[in-house]
Amino acid sequence: MPDISRIGKFTAFKEWRKKYGDVFGYYNAGTPVLAVSDPDIVKEILVKQFDKFDERYGTIDTSEHKYATLAEIKGEKWKRVRGITSPTFSTKKMKLMSPMILQCISKLMDRFKKRVKEGKNFNIAADFKCLTLDVIATTVFSYDTNVFNTTDNIFIKKLEHLIAGFDFDKQPFGDKMKLLMLTVFPSLMKTGLFDAWEDDMWFLDLAKKMIQDRQTSGEERHDYLHLMLSLHEKRVSGHDTDTDVSDNEIGQELRRNAKTKFLTMEEMQAQIYVFLVAGYETTSTTLAFVAYYLALYPEIQSKLQQEVDEHFPVKGQNINYDTVQKLPYLDMVFHEVSRLAYIGEIAVARVAQETTSIKGITIPKGAGIAINVGEIHRNPDLWGPEPVDQFVPERFLPERKESRHPMAYLAFGGGPRICVGMRFAIMEAKMALIHMMQKFTVNKCDQTAVPLKCNKDGIRAPEEGVYVTLSHRQ
Ligand code: HEM
Repeated sequence: MPDISRIGKFTAFKEWRKKYGDVFGYYNAGTPVLAVSDPDIVKEILVKQFDKFDERYGTIDTSEHKYATLAEIKGEKWKRVRGITSPTFSTKKMKLMSPMILQCISKLMDRFKKRVKEGKNFNIAADFKCLTLDVIATTVFSYDTNVFNTTDNIFIKKLEHLIAGFDFDKQPFGDKMKLLMLTVFPSLMKTGLFDAWEDDMWFLDLAKKMIQDRQTSGEERHDYLHLMLSLHEKRVSGHDTDTDVSDNEIGQELRRNAKTKFLTMEEMQAQIYVFLVAGYETTSTTLAFVAYYLALYPEIQSKLQQEVDEHFPVKGQNINYDTVQKLPYLDMVFHEVSRLAYIGEIAVARVAQETTSIKGITIPKGAGIAINVGEIHRNPDLWGPEPVDQFVPERFLPERKESRHPMAYLAFGGGPRICVGMRFAIMEAKMALIHMMQKFTVNKCDQTAVPLKCNKDGIRAPEEGVYVTLSHRQ
């Protein structure tokens, strides 16, 4: 068996699946982990038997912690926090937020104009990071990070440091030890000895300050902070519960929670923090991968530009939440990129809450489940007939999508714990791509790495960025 810490999860999962099939097990710090790429078993785990697998594997359970974040909690607490936070991503709320996103995109377009003028190769992944930071800080708490005007931005530094920590190998020794202790003895979390790390605290403190300032000023803004404060203070009656949650029993419970429950001050701080972290790197990396594929496939890029021109004859006008949904080819391009460049094996993972048997496989209580997204996204039975490593947006034609297994595409996870920010991220990415395609063409350059070298673990990202050039469209 290859050494997982040396070759990384991405490669290990590929090799082990080839050798052992759709379900195989391994040990991580003494915990048995089952890696699964059989879509029927995945459906049982993520959707049908959700109650038995409602905890996320690979994170430290913070359910007992005062700064409990949505991504790291389980059981009743998760149902309450998810029920309350989901409506903050409703269609109505996103429509209110889209003008803020457009302002951030216009700063990115100015940056791109400068790139064209300079005429040099540049790392477009870094520019997309500025965009997603600007968007997330603006929409979460109307905070101006000034990221497009500074080269040494404290926000970026703190976020990059935090995200590097998701890759265990990149952790400082002390943090590695803390993580190992918590993995082996999760109950230590309750002792408070392992309260938030330094970078976490920086964001949590900032969130607290922003909350307090807003409470004092009473200012009304269309950001998440305002929405959360409204819930906290129970000022909103009958706020809308239009979200992605399905209409099953869990969906109904989440909706009930949205109407009746509220968040404590620390929980608000924690959710602000998790939105910042979860919304920054994921969306910027996906955008960077889109730019990479467009540069490599100029004919697909022209087709996309043509679609954008047809829908938006006047540059920069009428781009809003509703109109961005109406571009089928853009939707196909986005999904095909996220199929090929999903964010990572640890992202979709669960813990068995009781011993369960699925398709004759016994899953012991406490076992981790790692959904082998990479192998599912490259399964020829699900994604053929075209070679699965090829970039073919037509795989997402509506008629092909409809006949595919519902668990074939997992870039945002699945079931009730699916990414809460999915629709927000897709709206942001599509708006940015429409603006970009109206004005610019992305070109491959002598520094574009083919294939891209990505990190071995953690959140999948191009290790040395995505180098391209931009030119103005005629
Ligand atoms: C392209 C961008 C993004 C990708 C690819 C992505 C992907 C994912 C994935 C794979 C999961 C795990 C789902 C599961 O376990 O089934 C997840 C969870 C989550 N995401 Fe995202 N995400 C993105 C953007 C965002 C944004 C913009 C936000 C917030 C503003 C966000 C907030 C979260 C949160 C809070 C969770 C945990 C949800 C829960 O456990 O209930 N994500 N995301």
